[in-house]
Amino acid sequence: MPTITKRLLGLLAAGMLLFGCSSDESEGMAEDAIESPQAGEALTLRSDIEPITRSEDAQPGVYIPMFERCSEPLGDDVGEGPDGQVCTNISISGCTEEGKRFADYGDCDIVRTQRPFWPRPPAGETDPNDPRLDDEDFMRELGWMTEQVEAAACVCCHDSDEIGGQAGIWDIRLGPIWLDSLSDAGLALFVGLADSSTFGAYPKAENNGFDRTLTGIPTTDTERLQAFLRTEMERRGLSEEEARAVPPFGGPIYANSIAVPEPCEGDQGIDEDGIVHWTGGPARYVYVLEEGSDNPGVPPNLDMPEGTLWKLDVLASADALGSGIEYGTTPEGSFQVLPETKRAPALEEGTTYHLVALFDIGVPVTSCLFTYGAPIGGTAMDAGKQDAGNVDPAVCESSAAFGTTCTADSDCTCSAASYCAIMPGQPEGFCTATGCVEDASVCPADWTCFDLSAIAPGAPSFCLEP
Ligand code: HEC
Repeated sequence: MPTITKRLLGLLAAGMLLFGCSSDESEGMAEDAIESPQAGEALTLRSDIEPITRSEDAQPGVYIPMFERCSEPLGDDVGEGPDGQVCTNISISGCTEEGKRFADYGDCDIVRTQRPFWPRPPAGETDPNDPRLDDEDFMRELGWMTEQVEAAACVCCHDSDEIGGQAGIWDIRLGPIWLDSLSDAGLALFVGLADSSTFGAYPKAENNGFDRTLTGIPTTDTERLQAFLRTEMERRGLSEEEARAVPPFGGPIYANSIAVPEPCEGDQGIDEDGIVHWTGGPARYVYVLEEGSDNPGVPPNLDMPEGTLWKLDVLASADALGSGIEYGTTPEGSFQVLPETKRAPALEEGTTYHLVALFDIGVPVTSCLFTYGAPIGGTAMDAGKQDAGNVDPAVCESSAAFGTTCTADSDCTCSAASYCAIMPGQPEGFCTATGCVEDASVCPADWTCFDLSAIAPGAPSFCLEP
């Protein structure tokens, strides 16, 4: 179990089910709008860089941020975009124009960098004698919904024609009624009763009229889609209450969204020379936020929470940054997203800020609070954490064992926390306990229970560091 689970956890955390979409923020002004340079160095703004639009230009395994692509209409199609072009958000919740196919105008290779694909068998099959097959209204609405999905990037992993005869549970090619391949939890998401908001969504006006804020799948007609799916809930005997009780989707992304940042410890924070220190490995996204801001989530609507003072991104083609960069600068391969045109604001002594470093979208390596001006570096707690790795099982103290750095289960010698949960791309993880859904008392106080099985049936639940 541990190996498979860890891999799954890694995949989930690395790629996630992201339904964000591109928001065009390239209205950024030219460099000469920059005021009061602090470092005297040139600053690279988002408006200065060419975004990556081909998967072969990105580093392997790196999330390619969403962008809009406009192309000439195919065959008899007529485009509604500028100059009759068809414009499509190349994003996991991107949609092309209604009635057209994402397969024709999108780019699944890019979408699949935003969340990894692995095949999962369908949740159910259709009885060949199912009476719905003779129900014209039902079959018409199913056809309409299929068309809606065909315009969306969901086809990249939920249309077996697009991905070599496989799909992730539900598959719009699985006849005669593909809706049967969806689980009840999936149906709850589709209809909008199970929360999937941490996957991100964006205004329908920027997505060819498709909305994903009220339903789980993007649609141009929320009411019609919900009416159809509610009939399906009724047929399955899935009550509204049960559907609402489905835990929020998002796995690690959801867990990140509700995590409360701890005080920075060890080599974390910004020192008096303005050097930014983080732990846990290289980062592709670095944030400084006001204390009390929401945790950064996925684009397009959750990646710049209110209170973001500084946001630095690394191009998908460039190497991630190691800890030790200078606040307010843009080292090679990186560019400043916020502020859009100015230098980063000066930090004020005695003020507490929230530092976030993401290994990649959705995978924080550091998220902690530091007070500018206070010395950073090795606290007692940090030293304790490192020592705890060699705890003797006979005398293990479970409070110290939880959160201990590990590279394998065998490092987690304390039976109360014998599971090593490793995030993707990380050489090491932390020791924790499994089975907290069944028995919440296995977790230390303050720790939350993360139920991996909510998205990956058969996987365990485990305690997540606060
Ligand atoms: C890059 C691949 C990928 C894309 C794109 C994608 N998904 Fe998925 N999705 C998966 C995989 C893989 C699973 C199976 C997860 C698992 O292991 O349980 C899944 C599972 C689901 C489930 C749970 C199904 C069930 O019956 O339990 C829902 C609901 C879902 N996806 C909705 C969507 C929607 C809506 C979109 C488009 C906005 C979408 N997905 C786009 C890969 C993807």
